[in-house]
Amino acid sequence: MLPGRFCGVGRVVSGYSTSTGIENPINPSIKVHCTQLLINGNFVDSASGKTFPTYDPRTGDVIAHVAEGDAEDIDRAVCAARKAFDEGPWPKMTAYERSKVLFRFADLLDKHIEELATLETWDNGKPYEQSAKIELPMISRIIRYYAGWADKIHGLTIPADGPHLVQTIHEPIGVAGQIIPWNFPLLMFAWKVGPALACGCTIVLKSAEQTPLSALYAAKLLHEAGLPPGVLNVVSGFGPTAGAALASHMDVDKLAFTGSSETGKIVLELASKSNLKPVTLELGGKSPFIVCKDADVDKAVELAHFALFFNQGQCCSAGSRTYVHEDVHDEFIEKAKARALKRSVGDPFKAGVEQGPQIDSEQFEKILRYIRSGIESGATLITGGDRLGSKGFYIQPTVFTNVKEDMLIAQDEIFGPVQSILKFRDMDEVIRRANSTRYGLAAGVFTNDLDTANTLSRALKVGTVWINCYDVFDAAIPFGGYKMSGQGREKGVHCLSNYLQVKAIVASLKNPAWI
Ligand code: NAI
Ligand code: MG
Repeated sequence: MLPGRFCGVGRVVSGYSTSTGIENPINPSIKVHCTQLLINGNFVDSASGKTFPTYDPRTGDVIAHVAEGDAEDIDRAVCAARKAFDEGPWPKMTAYERSKVLFRFADLLDKHIEELATLETWDNGKPYEQSAKIELPMISRIIRYYAGWADKIHGLTIPADGPHLVQTIHEPIGVAGQIIPWNFPLLMFAWKVGPALACGCTIVLKSAEQTPLSALYAAKLLHEAGLPPGVLNVVSGFGPTAGAALASHMDVDKLAFTGSSETGKIVLELASKSNLKPVTLELGGKSPFIVCKDADVDKAVELAHFALFFNQGQCCSAGSRTYVHEDVHDEFIEKAKARALKRSVGDPFKAGVEQGPQIDSEQFEKILRYIRSGIESGATLITGGDRLGSKGFYIQPTVFTNVKEDMLIAQDEIFGPVQSILKFRDMDEVIRRANSTRYGLAAGVFTNDLDTANTLSRALKVGTVWINCYDVFDAAIPFGGYKMSGQGREKGVHCLSNYLQVKAIVASLKNPAWI
């Protein structure tokens, strides 16, 4: 068998598998090679020798068996990250040198789009065109954004009272623990490692058990870009074992988590019960998308459809409550139904496919349970409502109307292709109703009226408001939630403070005339 595409791109990471790799049924030249844990610059087996399968959501078949890290491996990885932080060279390098590593990494991401997008789609089920044309460019963009920040992080000179020279310096916080989900495996990898590395931190990252493959490959590229060993360690494994060990580790200085609000509560508790490490949380959402009475209905239908169905509905920011003004409601629901029926669902590797399978059987069953609950609670199912085909985890694009706030489908994060449409009459009413969930991640507003857009965007208790657009995730725009959607912000300049300590240095002066 010929060596796969990944072989021969350099062996900067020692121990990198030289096997022929696991063949991709779609493109046999692109194979899975990185399946071990990455600790201290080496690909290694887990201490227990255990592995776990990762599945192809198109079929439910096993793609590869991946080393399963648990508490002992997390400990090994944290020790490596600690040593790399305390002894350098990473935090002690010039910021410019660090930025060059990140810029080279971004170039390698661009060069390997095909391999990375293939791994992402194979492991996750999202359309290949989305992986290759939307997500990979966003991923290298965010790495370049933070590469640009590395040498622009600095403190202040402060004119305090008294004969004192006062400076602040910004130091990397130390070893960052990062736990990421499966819905955007590589994008979440980039959102986490980009700012932490720019600030000079070292990292132990735990990928999601459903999608371990792309993070391992990206980490290999980062080492090829010149990252010193031990600076980024990647441990694949499960939440209650590897994830919990990371959140509660005494030598981890900061924790960043993306996932469900329920697990967010657990990791916050583990962090506080161990060493009080600061925690940032990007959690779930139940975001309203508000279609005002002046809306161009065709455009509003298209955007509301995208806001909910993008990525199989598996987005924390999904516009999962579509509020439509009564004047345009009936026309809107007819067209929303037609658009959902037109949605192309199928093998995510096929050109033109908009929707692939859900990630796994657990999510698939959860979504079907919510669809049943919607029907039982009296919402009107106007299209979809069932699985598609008999193999893999495909679900029909589903639309409910007559949805009320007290229904579970209007309160819980379904995380699937299920649109809930609610009718409203006036502004005060829609503001009150849109704010009536425990979440506060994002909102969409569709209107041509500046005053309406302004009022709604200020009244909604959410971290992001998109006006006449949705899911604009530019690297420079901060992202995060109000209420149970999270704590802190990622992306943009705001994210840097998550990975920095501010140190005040106060020096007594002999000549107080010059302060
Ligand atoms: P999850 O929140 O349990 O998993 C996210 C990450 O946390 C994974 O890496 C997982 O291994 C880890 N984790 C799980 N339990 C842990 C623990 N006890 N300690 C430390 N880490 C732990 O989410 P899951 O089970 O994959 O999906 C459940 C629901 O969560 C979804 O249906 C969806 O509603 C929501 N979700 C939200 C996401 C978002 O982007 N906000 C992403 C993924 C899921
Ligand atoms: Mg998988």
